[in-house]
Amino acid sequence: MIEERAAWVEMLRWHRDAGVSEALVEIARNRYTEQEKAPPVLQTTQEALAPKPAPKPVSKPAPAAEQEPDADSLAIADARSLAKTAMSLEGLRSALESFEGCALKRSARSLVFADGNPEARVMLIGEAPGAEEDRKGLPFVGRSGQLLDKMLAAIGLNRENAYITNILPWRPSGNRNPTIREVEMLRPFIERHVELVQPELLMLVGGVSAKSLLHTTTGILKLRGSWTQCQIGTQSLPALPTFHPAYLLRRPGDKGLAWRDFLSLKQRLDAGAAEESS
Ligand code: URA
Repeated sequence: MIEERAAWVEMLRWHRDAGVSEALVEIARNRYTEQEKAPPVLQTTQEALAPKPAPKPVSKPAPAAEQEPDADSLAIADARSLAKTAMSLEGLRSALESFEGCALKRSARSLVFADGNPEARVMLIGEAPGAEEDRKGLPFVGRSGQLLDKMLAAIGLNRENAYITNILPWRPSGNRNPTIREVEMLRPFIERHVELVQPELLMLVGGVSAKSLLHTTTGILKLRGSWTQCQIGTQSLPALPTFHPAYLLRRPGDKGLAWRDFLSLKQRLDAGAAEESS
């Protein structure tokens, strides 16, 4: 008997030293008979013995119309109404300057609106400004821009006869990829930009531009090189997705494919010019 007591005391001491300070259940449970029931939930003895609270009334979710719109939905609505009221490119630039819904604006140094000739037959749309573009306030003026200029020059285009902009007018800090949220929030502005310029042809430079303006999740490797119709508002414009020059700087082996795209653009421009003069 004394030995048994000593063994219990020893066991309690062992539990105490292991940090066990509370007994959760005092009544032994027959777990063989519990197997068919719902998984057990640990209860203290007080909880087990306490009267069961009355079931809470099931509260119906508030009807959608009564829910507060979140900050992103408000920003998108604001972007839409600002973009819609812009009746000129200057008006669109001012609309972007007054838009406060996108945090990129606060980390960027400049609003990078566009470069080139808004009367041009072709409009190129890239992704977002990089560090150099942010410094200068102009699209495609860094290393990628120099390569783009060379590819354009090879088919007789430059900033006098082409118009260049980006999906995002502000640089994402650290040159990170834009988020879907940012692209969606700023979409009304780039769409209005295209409506105001009314180019004959679009070149979508890189995956972000192609995917967002063509409303697809297909990657640029599949999209590039095939002309497709891009629906913007009531306009439907022929658009050619191509690789981004930053990608070509990393993968120069793919420049041949990009060269084919630029030749295809030249053929379309030449064909359109020939049609007009006949
Ligand atoms: N990459 C882009 O997509 N746009 C720029 O303006 C510069 C780099």
